[in-house]
Amino acid sequence: MTTGQVLEAVIDTVAELLHLRIGLRPGPTLRGRLRRAIREEAARHGQDPAAYVESLVADRGVLQSLMNQVAVHETAFFRHPEHFDVLAHDVLPETGPTVRIWSAACSNGQEAYSLAMLLEESGLDGTVIATDLSTAALHRTAAARYTRRELSGVSADRLARHFTRDGDHWKVKEPVRQRVRTLHHNLLDPLPREVLGSQVVFCRNVLIYLSADQVRLFLDRLADGLAPSTTLFVGAAETIWQASERFEAVRRRNAFIYRQRRSEPTRRTPSAAHPSMPVEPRRRRPERSERTRTTPRPSGWQQAPSTSTAAASPSSTLEITALEKTAQEAVAAGDYDGAVVAFRKCAYLRPHDPLAHLHLGLALEAAGDADAARRAFDAARRTLTETGPDVVVEGLKGLEGYSVSELIHLLDSKR
Ligand SMILES: C[S@@+](CC[C@H](N)C(=O)[O-])C[C@H]1O[C@@H](n2cnc3c(N)ncnc32)[C@H](O)[C@@H]1O
Repeated sequence: MTTGQVLEAVIDTVAELLHLRIGLRPGPTLRGRLRRAIREEAARHGQDPAAYVESLVADRGVLQSLMNQVAVHETAFFRHPEHFDVLAHDVLPETGPTVRIWSAACSNGQEAYSLAMLLEESGLDGTVIATDLSTAALHRTAAARYTRRELSGVSADRLARHFTRDGDHWKVKEPVRQRVRTLHHNLLDPLPREVLGSQVVFCRNVLIYLSADQVRLFLDRLADGLAPSTTLFVGAAETIWQASERFEAVRRRNAFIYRQRRSEPTRRTPSAAHPSMPVEPRRRRPERSERTRTTPRPSGWQQAPSTSTAAASPSSTLEITALEKTAQEAVAAGDYDGAVVAFRKCAYLRPHDPLAHLHLGLALEAAGDADAARRAFDAARRTLTETGPDVVVEGLKGLEGYSVSELIHLLDSKR
């Protein structure tokens, strides 16, 4: 065996191990990250890749160190701002005077502190339990110290109110900091005692990395362990309506939230799949009326595609806005064929916009046209590859809160 072949075999084994232990779906993006991480970690331990795998299986510390490396920590303060809007105006007023929020997969803490700032500003007695698998991310969360660049998303008012300058960093002030408690937790494990009783769960931009069966098991644990009134937020393109029939999407303002379904669904949609999962082609396309009646609404369309990668004339911008509205209304009504028509026109008007193709793909997937959906995802992937470094730098801002690497991951998983 050549050195390259040994490395590829090691990557296979490690990918399988990570799939079993933390639910990461093996795929080209993960393999790419593993290739580099295994080389670096093996060198750090003074081992060749084969010996390194043995320590990985035997030693939890070695595995944790690798998990810290391969985890994608992309995040931002007030990421997907429409969620915070809904939380502040629709959810928190209904939760009662004492609130517990679970920031599941909190990364470096920006999400947890954004939530804590809202609690502070609302004058509510509330705490945020910030959990993650990565101990490196949890250390950063506990430190509550951020660079200027990491503060994008924080308004000038909030910066003045909730942060103090600390050299070339900014520290979260004590009243907000004390509201956040960190905890090591793997989403594949039973819910930790500390999060039971949470009225709100933010579990965003992590389900896209997990395999379909693990997403469903996690959602079952949530439904079994938390009160039916608990509000769940997932990432903008994480449409869990396809992964679990225990939750239903509810439209609030410019976003969808998820609540436990109170009544039994009439039937299971057999080929429905989370966007991060491979999509099985449907055998039979249900009639429109049937789909409208039984299929819960997705969250993937909660915001109009907002990337600025394509130059559009003022008149076509107006047309696109109107089309997006039509498409979102169709999605909300379960009319996926209608959504496809509108999103297809958007993609036609904005051929270089990856999000326009992504939304079309999601709509096609929901309408049961797996082949056309795959072509739309391919087109999204191509436009992303073609987008220049400007968009990469703009990253979280320009792509509906997704970084280019996250979108690539999402699209690769769908193709
Ligand atoms: C992209 S970040 C998302 C951060 C934040 N929720 C947001 O939306 O900005 C994904 C996080 O999920 C964590 N993660 C990945 N797999 C996990 C698992 N099985 N259990 C818990 N956390 C996990 C990673 O360590 C990483 O910090």
